[in-house]
Order: sequence, then structure tokens, then C-alpha cells
Amino acid sequence: MNQDIIKVIDKEFSIFITNKEIDASIEKMAQQINQDYKGKKPIFLVILNGAFMFAADLFKKLTIDCEISFVKLSSYHGTTTTGRVKSLIGLNESIAGRHIIVVEDIIDSGITMEHLLEELNSKYPTDIRIATLLFKPKAFQKDFAIEYIGIEIPNDFIVGYGLDYDGFARNLPDIYKLVK
Ligand code: IMP
Ligand code: MG
Repeated sequence: MNQDIIKVIDKEFSIFITNKEIDASIEKMAQQINQDYKGKKPIFLVILNGAFMFAADLFKKLTIDCEISFVKLSSYHGTTTTGRVKSLIGLNESIAGRHIIVVEDIIDSGITMEHLLEELNSKYPTDIRIATLLFKPKAFQKDFAIEYIGIEIPNDFIVGYGLDYDGFARNLPDIYKLVK
């Protein structure tokens, strides 16, 4: 049984999205991807760490021919005025001429994903689409398209199902939100 209120480090979180609801949204997304990518042999690029659980559940529901690869974003001091930007590490195979689906746990402001899209686009893929389990429309500051969205949520801080608070709570099967 899942508890309604949990404590992670020093903060309280309350149950927000159950694993059953998560699974239903992933099922829907998988059906759409199976339709859209029939015969296209896409590569799924999973953004670690947060998206590992979502990616595993999504991947099991795919019936198309496809590959999967895991990448990470590392912070570094860029030379731009924005200062800190993240760069892609761990992509060892060529994505030139391939259909790419980026798999993310959550898109908040969209800043992380925008940098990533720029980097991926410079490697000549045929096209790139985004599959995110969660999306915070009110926090989104960018204008790139997000083709596959599992669940839209308000601007709450959430944990569980891969998402963390200071490294913890990724193991929870359900999603919890911060009690304010
Ligand atoms: P963005 O660049 O603002 O879109 O932030 C995206 C990244 O911030 C995600 O990949 C997560 O790692 C993290 N993030 C955003 N919102 C949350 C949240 O509510 N809980 C945990 N991590 C989050
Ligand atoms: Mg993430």
C-alpha cells in the first residue's frame, strides 16, 4: 500500500499521481508512437538519471523495431552570457540520418531540452521528437514542439517514479508533490 504522506530528507510530500495513472498515460503514448513510427526504426535517447523508469515502462509497450541509448547531461561553465549550460555526454553512436525520440521525465522551463535539441540537431538526424512523461505548461518558457506528453501538471515540485529530491525518492512507484 502506498502511503498518502511521505518524508524525503527534510520535506513532506503527498500522493499526487498513482502508478496506475502513470501506466495508463504511458500505454496511450506507446500506442501513438507505435502508429507514428511503423517501419521507421527510431532510436530512443533516454536522458539519465530521471527518465530511466519511464523509459523502461515505455519501451516494454513498443511493438515497432527500435533501438535505445542512454545519455546524460553534464553541467559545465559555458562561454555564453547565460553561464551554466549542460552538454550531452555518453552518445557514442551516430544519429545521422536516423529518427530520434528524446525520452525525458519532465519538462519544466524547457531550458535543458532546448540546449539538448541544439546539440542533437548538429549531428544531422533525420528528425527529432520529444516524449516526456510530465510537462509543466505554466513553467514552460520555450517554443519547441513536444509531440508526446504523458501528463500535464501544475508548477509543483514532485518526486517519485525516477524523479528525485537531492538524489532520493527515485525508487517510489507513484509520484508525490511537495506539501507547501
Ligand atoms: P527545465 O530545464 O527547467 O525544463 O528542467 C528540467 C529538469 O529539471 C528535469 O530534467 C528534472 O531533472 C528537473 N526537474 C524539473 N522539475 C522537477 C520536479 O518537479 N521534480 C524533480 N525534478 C525536476
Ligand atoms: Mg531529467
